[in-house]
Amino acid sequence: MSSKPRNPFNTETGQEPPRFVGREHELEIFSHNLAELTAGKPRHLAIIGGYGIGKTVLLWRMEEEARERKVKTMLLQAYTVSSFKDFYNVVLDGVSRVLPRGTVRDFIQRLNEIGLSVAGSGFSMKLRDEEFEPQSALREILTSACDQLNKIHGRDVPVVLFIDDFQLIARSLEKKVLEILRNVFTVLGREKRKIMLVVSGTPDLFSEFVHIHEPLIRFFEPRELPSLSADEVSEVIEEPLKKIDVTFEPEVIKRIYESSEGNPYFVQLLSHYTFESLTDRIAGIRELDEGLKMALTHLEASRFRIMYESASQGEKKVLYSLHQLGKPATFSEILKKAKENGLKEGTTRKLLQRLHKDKEILKQLPSGQYDFQTKLFTLWLKVKQPFLHNGTATMKKAD
Ligand SMILES: Nc1ncnc2c1ncn2[C@@H]1O[C@H](COP(=O)(O)OP(=O)(O)OP(=O)(O)O)[C@@H](O)[C@H]1O
Ligand SMILES: [Mg+2]
Repeated sequence: MSSKPRNPFNTETGQEPPRFVGREHELEIFSHNLAELTAGKPRHLAIIGGYGIGKTVLLWRMEEEARERKVKTMLLQAYTVSSFKDFYNVVLDGVSRVLPRGTVRDFIQRLNEIGLSVAGSGFSMKLRDEEFEPQSALREILTSACDQLNKIHGRDVPVVLFIDDFQLIARSLEKKVLEILRNVFTVLGREKRKIMLVVSGTPDLFSEFVHIHEPLIRFFEPRELPSLSADEVSEVIEEPLKKIDVTFEPEVIKRIYESSEGNPYFVQLLSHYTFESLTDRIAGIRELDEGLKMALTHLEASRFRIMYESASQGEKKVLYSLHQLGKPATFSEILKKAKENGLKEGTTRKLLQRLHKDKEILKQLPSGQYDFQTKLFTLWLKVKQPFLHNGTATMKKAD
């Protein structure tokens, strides 16, 4: 190929896609909630989904839409905080970004007047100590932020607070932080304040609250992000390629859809490496196979190796047993195979549970059978055979 065009596809999560597809339903709900917010009846939202399913990018789209409607936005990136103080400093950072320069000082003064000890400059601010009651502190921060914005803009400005990866905060501050958010936003809503909350998180964020009537579930209205459909995957791949006069054969697109299972991150990664192996302007099965190998190497370094090594010796034997079975398997099939590999029944039961519930290396299908979390991980196990290197494959005795 004469001068190869730049590869349009992503290799990481948290990157703008060359073509954004789908999510009409989620954006519609958001849009509806925005209208309610502007009318003074805020409703909140939680976007739930696993690794690379598209939570961050969807929040970006929502933020754009809010801005187009003249709604103020604060998009916060969560991290593993160790206290409410840390969490509120993330919130304060968001507030200082939405306030015009020069008004941050006023805001700090206001918080200090109501007894929250905040230090800062004209640009940023931080809580000084841990001595505050978490619920009233958050309420004061958000009320003051709304008041300040209304004063500056001379009208009742609607605000959306986005928090991406909220599970990182919820894991360290536990259920309490979800309850505080709910309580604070409920009070703010009753006071007719136009502020709305959108969080994203992994499926374990609400997994404790299985009962649909649980108040937290009603408050957050969690939406699980689905995988992309076959048509959406075609669009993601074909649209950016059209512009640079490159084609992926229909069979290649079909295989990318199948191997990725519609996970948008995997679609990007497989497309990226298929593109890398182009020697001409058209990709066929040879380029795909080459690309798949490179994608597996990438995933091995970034994720699969760590995932596999997070399993104990015993868990690895259970994984090996399922791998030997070569397809999704029932509990009793795994039990039998694991026994051949030297594991007792009670042990296998416990290990299987851990691999599924805690480590999320395995998933349970609607049929009740167990399978590896993704097809690409299954394939990596097959290609790399990590069992052979650490002796799992030959060890017979239970540990
Ligand atoms: N709707 C979409 N259309 C096309 N590409 C998408 C879409 N959503 C996500 N992507 C692409 O998939 C990848 C993963 O998206 P994103 O980072 O939003 O996922 P995530 O769920 O936030 O991942 P993580 O679990 O790492 O936080 C990115 O490279 C992004 O560009
Ligand atoms: Mg993300």
